[in-house]
Amino acid sequence: MFKGKVALVTGSGRGIGATIARHFATLGADVVVNYFRNPGSANETAESIRKLGRKALLVKANMGEIEDIERMFAVIEQEFGGLDIYIHNAASGYNRPVMQQRAKGWDWTMNINARSLLFATQRAVPLMDKRGGGAIVAISSPGAGRVLPDYVVVGASKAAIESITRYLAVELAPKNIVVNAVSPGMVLTEALQHFEMVRADVNLAEKAVSITPAGRLVNPQDIAEVVAFLCSPAAHMIRGQVITVDGGASLLAPGLGKVQPSPE
Ligand SMILES: NC(=O)c1ccc[n+]([C@@H]2O[C@H](COP(=O)([O-])OP(=O)(O)OC[C@H]3O[C@@H](n4cnc5c(N)ncnc54)[C@H](OP(=O)(O)O)[C@@H]3O)[C@@H](O)[C@H]2O)c1
Repeated sequence: MFKGKVALVTGSGRGIGATIARHFATLGADVVVNYFRNPGSANETAESIRKLGRKALLVKANMGEIEDIERMFAVIEQEFGGLDIYIHNAASGYNRPVMQQRAKGWDWTMNINARSLLFATQRAVPLMDKRGGGAIVAISSPGAGRVLPDYVVVGASKAAIESITRYLAVELAPKNIVVNAVSPGMVLTEALQHFEMVRADVNLAEKAVSITPAGRLVNPQDIAEVVAFLCSPAAHMIRGQVITVDGGASLLAPGLGKVQPSPE
């Protein structure tokens, strides 16, 4: 589906990003694997893409630093000459209660998660222009609209991502660039270990399944499939939307809904 296309997936050394990167390679794209702190897992992702017969360009860049973003896009231009797909997946954050937050944690989180979407897009657009258009998908989170424990600054950054997504969708439409967001439910990755409540409750995943009508947790491949769809011609008329992929977990009113056993 994406043969001859170039896809950048930020934070794709591990977790959901790594699965998205491999999925695009499976569908024929060459992939830019961006990482920040963990070159080992990023190398593994790149190798698995090469084994699929696709090109993998490994770029270390802190998405919270404008200079790093500029350098990354310069490397992409040099290597591929253009870009078709930008998946804004990398995220970080200071998980603390409201009263323990500090300005440094706010800046860190907002810059890596949200500011980067706006300014990386500014660099991506000229490269997409060279291809006659493109697709951008930002990964949000339920914390954008609901209250999760210790999540205030990440939640605010995700709300910003969803807002930026709508502006980009409108202002980049004349350039034939399609912009949307995906909001995953709970996915078992290392990210969850940053939550005190996850570390404290070994049964949390089980509890999450019990409130999920689809009968299981979301996995990274579920997210990768929807992200790829949003970059495909079939999704051309979907613009500026946040697609929730949570097996229906957010549908039930607390204490009132009942999950039926799922056939899956
Ligand atoms: N897991 C969930 O339940 C869940 C639910 C909703 C939304 N999400 C969202 O899904 C996305 C992926 O989450 P995940 O669970 O896969 O997270 P993860 O396992 O913690 O992985 C985070 C990724 O982001 C990269 N990263 C972190 N800081 C970076 C920076 N400054 N610059 C560039 N890359 C950076 C990491 O790279 P290095 O290791 O190289 O530093 C890593 O590849 C995030 O946007 C997250 O908010 C996750």
